[in-house]
Amino acid sequence: MKVKDKEFAVSIPEREILSQVARVAAEINRDYAGQEPVFLVVLNGSFIFAADLLREVTLPCEIAFVKMASYQGTSSTGTVREIMGLNVDVTNRPVIIVEDIVDTGFTMAHMLELLKQHHPQSVNICSLLVKPGKLQVDLDIRYRCLEIPNDFIVGYGLDYDQQGRNTRDIYTVVEK
Ligand code: IMP
Ligand code: MG
Repeated sequence: MKVKDKEFAVSIPEREILSQVARVAAEINRDYAGQEPVFLVVLNGSFIFAADLLREVTLPCEIAFVKMASYQGTSSTGTVREIMGLNVDVTNRPVIIVEDIVDTGFTMAHMLELLKQHHPQSVNICSLLVKPGKLQVDLDIRYRCLEIPNDFIVGYGLDYDQQGRNTRDIYTVVEK
């Protein structure tokens, strides 16, 4: 598939994504039994992941959305901008952050800092994808569906310059 100027090939088919998403949802259902977590979905990239994950979650829960961005094109700019802030009271509540991908980890580290100021009871990160080879900060990513190599990917919510989000499979850039 072509997105703008780059060629991409399927690297993780939908069935594999969905089975890992279901596995992680079951872990959350087990770990948070008896609690009412607040899921904080990080837009835009997590919208499809969140829809699939949260329909497997059987806990009473609240779902809210925040928007952050640090990427331009295919490389992290390092500076994370918070675009749309927290509009839910997380004080003394268990929070689960729903993220599409942890790359350098700067976005999540920044978000944890921001959240701390609101005194949640607990915070855990749930990420669809993790690139362990790119992680630059010490981060506890409790729930992770898939670990991937450092290559740039699109699809299933993730974009390349705002395009390529609307696919069922995940695609990796084909380097020429
Ligand atoms: P970090 O702050 O470097 O961890 O970057 C996290 C954000 O960068 C993610 O939430 C994504 O929006 C974006 N990102 C990182 N890697 C990729 C990728 O391979 N494809 C698309 N977006 C990515
Ligand atoms: Mg993101």
